[in-house]
Amino acid sequence: MDKLKKLEAIAKKIENCDECKIGKIGKAVVGEGNPDADIMFIGEAPGKEEAKVGRPFIGRSGKLLRSLIREAGLKEEDVYITSPVKYLPERGTPTKEDIVHGRKYLFEQINIIQPKILVLLGRVATEAVIQEKYPVMKMRGKIIEKDGRKYFLTLHPAAVLRNPPNRKFLIEDFQKLKKLLNS
Ligand code: URA
Repeated sequence: MDKLKKLEAIAKKIENCDECKIGKIGKAVVGEGNPDADIMFIGEAPGKEEAKVGRPFIGRSGKLLRSLIREAGLKEEDVYITSPVKYLPERGTPTKEDIVHGRKYLFEQINIIQPKILVLLGRVATEAVIQEKYPVMKMRGKIIEKDGRKYFLTLHPAAVLRNPPNRKFLIEDFQKLKKLLNS
């Protein structure tokens, strides 16, 4: 089975997963992008806009993320964008259970795509994927190598929208990412 077919099979599983839907609303947001992406962006959980349409990062924070991706010299269709939690949590913030359950599907997606770099957007993405506590403000803009994978930590764009003075850090990190990708 090729990568696209495998990703489609995971999407079907997520759409039919009753456990995923506990305490959630709206459409499944499985992720989107290139099955052969070298770089994968990982957020937290879909927001209202995403749950309405079923696509990741299309609301305000998504617009910021997608503009930074383009400014880093990447094309949206060349990367893969997703989150550990695949449905909008009723309370907005995912629970530990939501993350532990949803990331099983995220790990399956990572294993199929085999990206060269995983960009972890914020604390939830970092703890969900690396399964260790890394202070994002201290480790941001750096590559962490663990178990044969490369992770790049930065802030979640929604956190930057909530706290505009932090925008400079996100921009700085994407400039570093651009350099890394070109080196
Ligand atoms: N924020 C996320 O973390 N993921 C989305 O898909 C949208 C917003």
